[in-house]
Amino acid sequence: LSTAAVIPAAGRGVRLGPGTPKALRTLGGTPMLVHAVRALARAREVALVVVVAPADGVAEVRTLLGTHGFPESKEIKVVAGGGTRQESVRLGLAALPDDIDVVLVHDAARPLVPVETVDAVAAAVRDGAPAVVPALPLADTVKQVEPDAAGGPERVVDTPERARLRAVQTPQGFRRDVLTEAHEKLADQATDGHGATDDAGMVERIGVQVVVVRGHEEAFKVTRPIDLVLAEAVLARRRA
Ligand code: CTP
Ligand code: MG
Repeated sequence: LSTAAVIPAAGRGVRLGPGTPKALRTLGGTPMLVHAVRALARAREVALVVVVAPADGVAEVRTLLGTHGFPESKEIKVVAGGGTRQESVRLGLAALPDDIDVVLVHDAARPLVPVETVDAVAAAVRDGAPAVVPALPLADTVKQVEPDAAGGPERVVDTPERARLRAVQTPQGFRRDVLTEAHEKLADQATDGHGATDDAGMVERIGVQVVVVRGHEEAFKVTRPIDLVLAEAVLARRRA
């Protein structure tokens, strides 16, 4: 089986605050996207990495990736993304050559994912699972809420049992045919205009069983400014 990674990196990073698009913000002096591409390219089974860049930043990202070295001279392709993560992944999938049969989708915003996590996801797909997510138990209890129609405080409607909840990360691994089918079937059904927030959720909706492997604390997503503080600390500890 031939495996490719698709890295959606076309988001603006609104929650991180104003500045450069999130994937191009630096960690330890190196753009987050470069860390993410390295993490996936380092995995032995990954033959090709497709980076989905902001539509107005394709040339810039190509230049950036050309100036950084990647292991084992893996092939790197850069394509233009869309207005939602879902759309960006779909555009990344469209750029895959015919011989690819396993796809790992990995957020550029998870730059520090260890290669062991990438390997574990890829191995589970190769062992026969059509869809695999890395996930961790939650520290916080989660409430489901509903807005108050009169503009008052949100109301709690449910408290799911924490022990059975998981926070899911990336890379999420798929048989290519399964992921492509989900993206084709659900392309017009973008939920509330934002699209799906992960690929496994789309695959669930077309009736495919998703399985979980253990995620990693260092695969956290850089979303808010405090996540940059943590990411810098993790990187400094690795380099020490
Ligand atoms: N992404 C993308 N195309 C989009 C939106 C998001 O490729 N139109 C990518 C981001 O670049 C990121 C991943 O999807 O690597 C996860 O999204 P998220 O963490 O939400 O990043 P942003 O959308 O950039 O951040 P925000 O939601 O705060 O604007
Ligand atoms: Mg987003």
